[in-house]
Amino acid sequence: MKRDFATVILAAGLGTRMKSRQAKVLHQAGGKTLIELVAATAVRLVPREQVYVVVGHQADRVQRAVQGLEVRFLRQEKQLGTGHAVLIGREELAKAARLLVLYGDCPLVSAATLGGLMQCHVESGAAATVLTTRLADPTGYGRMVRGPAGDIRAIVEEKAATPAQRAITEINSGMYCFETGPLFDCLAGVRPDNSAGEYYLTDVIGCLVGKGLRVEGYTINEASEVLGINTRVELAEVDNLLRGRKVRELMLEGVTIQRPETVTVDLEVSIGEDTVLEPFVQILGRTSIGSGCRIRSYAVISDSVLGDEVLVEPYSWVNESEVERGVHIGPYARLRTGNVVEAEASVGNFVELKKTRLGARSKAMHLAYLGDATIGADVNVGAGTITCNFDGVVKNPTIIEDGVFVGSNSTLVAPIRVGAGSYLAAGSVFTEDVEPGALGIGRSRQTVKPGWAVRRKKKRAETAEEDR
Ligand code: UD1
Ligand code: CA
Repeated sequence: MKRDFATVILAAGLGTRMKSRQAKVLHQAGGKTLIELVAATAVRLVPREQVYVVVGHQADRVQRAVQGLEVRFLRQEKQLGTGHAVLIGREELAKAARLLVLYGDCPLVSAATLGGLMQCHVESGAAATVLTTRLADPTGYGRMVRGPAGDIRAIVEEKAATPAQRAITEINSGMYCFETGPLFDCLAGVRPDNSAGEYYLTDVIGCLVGKGLRVEGYTINEASEVLGINTRVELAEVDNLLRGRKVRELMLEGVTIQRPETVTVDLEVSIGEDTVLEPFVQILGRTSIGSGCRIRSYAVISDSVLGDEVLVEPYSWVNESEVERGVHIGPYARLRTGNVVEAEASVGNFVELKKTRLGARSKAMHLAYLGDATIGADVNVGAGTITCNFDGVVKNPTIIEDGVFVGSNSTLVAPIRVGAGSYLAAGSVFTEDVEPGALGIGRSRQTVKPGWAVRRKKKRAETAEEDR
C-alpha cells in the first residue's frame, strides 16, 4: 500500500529579486532562516522521513540550516522552474499517494491552515487542492482562473496574464495537495513555453482540468498567512508579523513590554512573568530570561540564560553567557562569550568578561577586562583591573579565590593564582601567585622629597630675573 502524504518544500532558487549573494531561504525572519520556519511547520504535519526539501543554490548551507529537523533532500542542479523542482523528485515523492507542496519563501502559514488544506483534499477526493486567498493587491502572484460555476480552470502567472486576468484578486498561495499519480502524469508534459522559459508547477492545474479531473480551492481569509517573500521589503513585513505575534504572546504570558513596536525578540526566546522589557531592547537566539527581571533600553541579549530578578542596565551586551539570580549588569557592560555570573554579583560600566566565572556577590564595577578568569565569591575587583590572559601565543588562566580584594588598576599577568582573602595593592603588576591571606604589592615604593617644589619655583624666578 502507498504511504499517505509526503511533503516537498521548494527551496532551490537563488531569489534574484532579493539582490543578495545569499540564497533567499537563508535570509532570516524572527531570527530563523525562512527554510527553518517552513520545514518546522512541515514536520508537524508529515513524518520527518517523508519531508523532502529541494535544494540547489547554496545547497550545503540550506541543508545545514535544517539539519536538526532530520528531513530529506533532493538536489535540483539547475533551477528550471517550480514544476521542474517537483519533477526531479518523482521517484521518491511518487511513493506516497498524496503530496503536500510548499514553497520555502512562504514562512507564515500555520500548521492548522495546512492541516485544513490536507483534510479538505482528502475529503473532497479532488486530484488537486489549491490554497488560495484574496489580496487587495495581488501583484506578483499567480491568479486563480475560475469558470462561471466557480470551478477552478487554471492558474495564470502574472507575466502571462491578460489584463482581465490581472484584475482577478484571488491568488495562488503556492501551497497545494496533489494525488501523486495524476500530478506526475501532467508534470511530465509541462513545457517551458512562457516568457520566463520555466517549467511552471502551476500549469499542472490546467492539465488536470483538461483531463476532466477535479481541482478544488481551499480559500482562507487570513491573507497574511500566505505572504510570499520575493524582496527585502516583504522580508521585513514577514519579520515584523512574526515578531509582533511573539511579543503579543509574551505579554499575554505576563511580560511587561514597553513600546512593543520597538523591541526585537526572536521566536525561540522565553521570558518569565513580571519581567519588564524597556523600549528598544533586543532579545535574540535561544535566550531564556527568568521572572522579575528588568532589561533596560538598548540592551542586546543573545543566546544567554538569565535567572530571576536580573537587572540589565542600558547599552549592555550579554552573549552566550549564564547569569544567575539577582545579578546586576551594566550600564555599558560586555559579556562577550562563555561567562557565568553567579547570584547577586555585579558587572558594572565598561567591564568586559570573556570565558570568565564571577562568583556569588562578587563585584567588578568599573573599567575592567576579565578574560579566562575564575573568580570566587565575595571578591572586589577594583576599577581598571586587567587580566593579561594572552601571552601572544596562548591564553592563560587567572584564578582569584574567595574574598580577595583586588586594588584598582591591578595588572594580573596570567597564569596566576591569588589566594583566598588576600589583598592586592592598587596600581600593581602581578606576575607571581599571591598566597592566601597575604598582601601583594607589585610596584616601586613611593618617595617624597620635602620642599622640592618650593625650591624649584624659587630657582626659576631667579633665572628669569637674571635674563631681564
Ligand atoms: C510562485 C507561483 C505563483 C504563486 C507564488 C506564491 C509558480 C510558477 N508560481 O511564484 O503562482 O502565486 O509562488 O508565492 O509556481 N524554486 C525552486 N526551483 C526552481 C524555481 C523555484 O526550488 O527551479 C523555489 C524557490 O526557491 C522558491 C519557490 O520555489 O522558494 C517559489 O519560486 P518563486 O520563483 O519565488 O515563485 P513566484 O514567482 O513567487
Ligand atoms: Ca515567491
